[in-house]
Amino acid sequence: MRAFEPIMVQEIDTFIKHLFGLSKSGALINMTPMCRHLSYDTAAHLGFGSSLNLQTDPTNRFLPKAISIGDLRINICMNFPLLMKWRLHQRIADNVPNSLRDRFFEALNIMEDDAEPLVIDGHVIPRGTQVAVNIYSLHHNTEYFPDPCSYRPERWLEDALHSEAAKKVMSDAFAPFSVGSRSCAGKAMAYLEVSLTLAKTLWYFDFEAAAGESGNLGGGTPARSGGRNRVDEFQLYDRFSAHHEGPNLVFHPRENTYNELGMAA
Ligand code: HEM
Repeated sequence: MRAFEPIMVQEIDTFIKHLFGLSKSGALINMTPMCRHLSYDTAAHLGFGSSLNLQTDPTNRFLPKAISIGDLRINICMNFPLLMKWRLHQRIADNVPNSLRDRFFEALNIMEDDAEPLVIDGHVIPRGTQVAVNIYSLHHNTEYFPDPCSYRPERWLEDALHSEAAKKVMSDAFAPFSVGSRSCAGKAMAYLEVSLTLAKTLWYFDFEAAAGESGNLGGGTPARSGGRNRVDEFQLYDRFSAHHEGPNLVFHPRENTYNELGMAA
């Protein structure tokens, strides 16, 4: 990682300069494509030895969208391998609305239920079902993370309100990169990239949510249910990896820090 850091910093500086250029016009910036281009360009350096140049050149920008569609297919095929054999996954992914898709998959599980079922915590698990702990559920379990839907980074600090014991409970349950032999191979790189990008963004800019309706992009919708109604929670959609949109932010360069970037005000 130490040897790779200068290349990573180069990509992050391109990201910062791009933000700086856009901030001059006061434009709102959708952070999903911005961050996606940065992370793909950095990962391409590591994997292929050269950048995809998504940050600076639109030519290859079809790739993230294509990968996102691919992720949806992989997700379906991994959970229901038989579908791949029948090539049904393609038609389901393309044509069936979400609610119907869920019912179809439930029915498929019941079809596999040909022996004594396993019962976990009162739930019947049909034979052949793959069982896993969903990381979102783990991180929103109130036994480990009180008030889990509130953005409270200070929950990790040690002070009068947050005891050492409560912090240990959270640390033990915190597994964004999974655990064990198949946990994330890029964990060290992800921590370095996220930390450097956040530190540099906070150093060079003040930023805020865009004004009006566009500032809500990425949050929940009050009319919906099942967690999709939480306006303050950044919404993630499970597709093998996570799919999301927004947030839309407006950036203001801090003091004269643009001099350090070799850029004119
Ligand atoms: C914040 C960023 C990231 C998060 C939260 C994350 C999370 C995860 C998780 C949860 C898994 C396990 C998936 C599973 O068991 O189904 C995983 C696997 C993996 N991740 Fe990441 N990841 C991140 C960034 C990266 C990066 C930057 C790379 C590479 C450059 C990477 C490479 C991998 C690889 C190769 C695996 C598969 C490991 C295996 O199966 O042996 N990840 N990641």
